[in-house]
Amino acid sequence: MVAHGGKRFVPGFPKDFGWGVATSAYQIEGAVDEGGRGPSIWDTFSHEPGRTQRGENADVSCDHYHHWQEDADLMADLGLSVYRFSIAWSRVMPNGKGPLNEQGVDFYSRLVDGLLERGITPFPTLYHWDLPQALEDEGGWVNRDTTQRFAEYAAAMFDRLGDRVDLWVTHNEPWVTAFMAYVGSEKAPGIYNDWPLALRVSHHLLLSHGLAVQALRAGRPSAKIGIAPNLHPTRPLADTPEDAKAAQIWDGFQNRWFLDPVFKGAYPEDMLAEYERFGFEESVEDGDLAAISSPIDHLGVNFYHRVAVTQKPDSPYLGLVCVPTQLPLTEMGWDITPDGLHEMLLRIKRDYGDIDIYITENGAAFPDEWDGGDVVEDPDRIDFISRHLEALSQAIADGVSVKGYCVWSLLDNYEWEKGYAKRFGLYYVDYPTQRRIPKGSALWYRDQIAAARAGGS
Ligand code: FCB
Repeated sequence: MVAHGGKRFVPGFPKDFGWGVATSAYQIEGAVDEGGRGPSIWDTFSHEPGRTQRGENADVSCDHYHHWQEDADLMADLGLSVYRFSIAWSRVMPNGKGPLNEQGVDFYSRLVDGLLERGITPFPTLYHWDLPQALEDEGGWVNRDTTQRFAEYAAAMFDRLGDRVDLWVTHNEPWVTAFMAYVGSEKAPGIYNDWPLALRVSHHLLLSHGLAVQALRAGRPSAKIGIAPNLHPTRPLADTPEDAKAAQIWDGFQNRWFLDPVFKGAYPEDMLAEYERFGFEESVEDGDLAAISSPIDHLGVNFYHRVAVTQKPDSPYLGLVCVPTQLPLTEMGWDITPDGLHEMLLRIKRDYGDIDIYITENGAAFPDEWDGGDVVEDPDRIDFISRHLEALSQAIADGVSVKGYCVWSLLDNYEWEKGYAKRFGLYYVDYPTQRRIPKGSALWYRDQIAAARAGGS
């Protein structure tokens, strides 16, 4: 059986598998001054000169705030069973604390209802990088109080949406929130090479995750919750002891630093030794690791690529760097490594035990162009997604409990500091007209979902 693009279906998925797409609030919503929304750190950052490519911001982006019904119809056309989106904290709590902004809550409430009417399970993420600016003004994630504010915000969302939402994610990619924002300076608030702050932020993110899990247990005991780190299998670039060490440290820095505390209630020893010079342990108080390791129901895995690591003394990232190894790369300059997804899933099972897994993001940017026709053909993306689904189906056959898969992304959108040039969507967005045009990959994915659901894939 073949689907759109002449590509074979990928077999091996259970009939009730969660077929999805993922988006995030700041990247698609626009309407930054509407409905009582307060500013977030990304509004501030994207308006600072020199922070983003071509100075682009997401003031309008896909204008999903006004187009959400049309977008939900696109999801229904694909036959999706799950939609992973994020809630903009500053839309529902403009100052990050205090009373709810009812207009903001209504937006998400209507979205949830609209999804359910279309047979799509809502799968919200509480934090996808857009801290209310008012909290940043009080120190942001560096300030331990922000963990309490997050728990209050989470509890308010469980209260207001939890009668219809059963599946939650606390944080999207805490590694990015901590290290790309406080070491690499690519993400808001854009601080360079401040390791003590970055490490404190990473701990506060994890603590806030644990407090939100506890709030869910108290308020909505039957609902399910997890966290969605970006996970990258690591390899030494060269077959040398130096690169072997580099790969081990990168693995600790990016993967184990987040997985070990959540699953084992302890930071990895080798990384604690590595970070001793930054005074990390002062941030950790009694009881924090118990909160962080509150049992979760699922792990979200954002998987983009495996990395090859080597030394680069002037890199702020511990003097290490990840180097692309093979052509073709995606437009982000990332290696295409579907077997890395299989490797990572088996490793999670081996090191952290059996846990339900959602692939909360996987996808690729390619230089799509619209010629005015009805479909934007993107065979590279079909190839990318189908090869990752093959790896996923192999992991399922190998006994990993994978419950769902979300393509990043439904729509082309604002790719953070890289602006609009990077197109990840199943639908092409013509920004001047806000028209959505299906790409070949959308049609292929629709056919894949239908075949899998019919049991014929
Ligand atoms: C991930 C982010 C997501 C998007 C993709 C391409 O790191 O979670 O918002 O930018 O990368």
